Amino acid sequence: MPQLRVCVIGAGAAGLAAARHLTSELDVFEVRVFEQASRVGGIWVYSENTGIDERGITVHSSMYRNLRTNVPKEIMAFPDFPFPLEWSSYLSHQQVLKYLEDYTSHFDLYKYIQLNSVVNSVRPLIGEDSHQPVWEVVVTDVDTKESQVLQFNAVIVCNGHYSIPRLPAIPGMESFPGVVMHSHDYRHPEVFTGKHLVILGAGSSGVDICLNVANCAEKVYLSHKGSLCSKLPENVEQQRPIMSISVDGTVLFEDGQERKVDCILLCTGYIFSFPFLHDDCSIQVRNNRVTHLYKHIFNTKHPTLSFIGVCSLSCGFARFSLQAQYIASVLSGRKSLPSEDQMNADEEQDFQERLSLGMPEHHAHRTGTRGDYNGVIAQLAGVDRLSPLYDNLFKYVLEKRKYHVMDYTKDNYKVNADGTWTSQLF
Ligand SMILES: Cc1cc2nc3c(=O)[nH]c(=O)nc-3n(C[C@H](O)[C@H](O)[C@H](O)COP(=O)(O)OP(=O)(O)OC[C@H]3O[C@@H](n4cnc5c(N)ncnc54)[C@H](O)[C@@H]3O)c2cc1C
Ligand SMILES: NC(=O)c1ccc[n+]([C@@H]2O[C@H](COP(=O)([O-])OP(=O)(O)OC[C@H]3O[C@@H](n4cnc5c(N)ncnc54)[C@H](OP(=O)(O)O)[C@@H]3O)[C@@H](O)[C@H]2O)c1
Repeated sequence: MPQLRVCVIGAGAAGLAAARHLTSELDVFEVRVFEQASRVGGIWVYSENTGIDERGITVHSSMYRNLRTNVPKEIMAFPDFPFPLEWSSYLSHQQVLKYLEDYTSHFDLYKYIQLNSVVNSVRPLIGEDSHQPVWEVVVTDVDTKESQVLQFNAVIVCNGHYSIPRLPAIPGMESFPGVVMHSHDYRHPEVFTGKHLVILGAGSSGVDICLNVANCAEKVYLSHKGSLCSKLPENVEQQRPIMSISVDGTVLFEDGQERKVDCILLCTGYIFSFPFLHDDCSIQVRNNRVTHLYKHIFNTKHPTLSFIGVCSLSCGFARFSLQAQYIASVLSGRKSLPSEDQMNADEEQDFQERLSLGMPEHHAHRTGTRGDYNGVIAQLAGVDRLSPLYDNLFKYVLEKRKYHVMDYTKDNYKVNADGTWTSQLF
């Protein structure tokens, strides 16, 4: 008989990784995954809709029609489930969704997943041991609107964090006469045909959507804090961040330059949001930093509440897999966590290190290529480290993207037995 009832919230890549690893120990865990959508895959479930969908649910996906992955499949895969050999290195969103569905079938996970089920509330029922509360979870059926109140020994939050726009406060934005859109609602470039537009933010969304849109728009101003080294389309001009906007549609940039535009496309990123977590869960989000989390995973007050995917890196699937295994090893009792005070101190040290490196508070969960987070998690979980290919090829791809943003996804990689690789144009 399993001893631990575990609730997983969300069946995107993170929730699927949780389900895959917990269900490999069915003598220990009884697993239920709740997913508000009608299929698995999370952000990779492309929708033409924006806003509220026909079922009354806010559209979760930020996928756009022409998106291709920004890391090659060789390092985007879960370590125990490669992408099909015959596919090129950089994939369409349809291929990634198919892969996640295949992963679900391969590990026989559908039977643990309840689709069309929104988790509305998670609350610890504190008994004698505040480290081991019973978790009360309220789940509502999207179609019938009927709710169930359930109890679990542990909750794993996998609700994704690239769905709710981070919106800048820019003087004059509210009276801009043209279209203002966030990348969450961007689907295809034709809406900008013949337009002059400014794209604010040059993260992956800003840069990739800029290349997409430049084919249709008359002129694109890519407004951001840095300076891209790569060649860009001829009708793209880099600009400093926006300072203010006038009622006639003139945008003033930080260096005093002005441009008149028809549209503003905000590619300013996303925020963490856990609307279902009761205050007693002891999780706070301030300036897009989630506290109190040990190793970005375990709630330090109630460690049976954990999170997958809070800290970001583009090889997310492999990291989700490690985080899921760490959670499984702690919940099962194979590994133990430090005391609450020690975990809080570790979190604070990690945060202070970032600040001392000049990172802003809202980058508290960005690891990038800094440190060896994946290695630390593997060690703490007592599982195999990822192949060095993940780190090495990722660093190579980041460099390549920096100088060849227009064509780096044309590369096709072949990984050799010794972990080296060769690339050729696909
Ligand atoms: C435009 C875009 C492009 C990207 N491209 C890449 C890429 O090329 N390579 C890469 O590795 N990563 C990429 N990413 C990052 C991507 O987010 C991760 O790869 C990964 O898919 C995230 O998985 P997740 O499970 O954490 O979140 P999600 O995929 O967002 O899944 C979360 C799931 O939780 C469900 N959910 C949320 N709230 C509730 C609730 N209350 N009750 C029930 N269910 C709920 C949602 O419906 C969703 O299915 C991209 C992200 C974006 C936005
Ligand atoms: N496969 C693909 O090609 C693809 C495409 C899109 C997205 N993605 C993935 O989706 C995730 C989200 O990417 P994202 O680009 O949407 O978000 P992001 O990585 O958070 O980037 C948003 C950018 O906007 C900047 N910004 C915010 N406000 C600004 C302002 N007022 N002025 C100037 N700049 C501002 C941010 O700078 P600060 O952080 O310094 O504030 C940041 O650089 C990532 O994992 C990414 O890899 C992948």
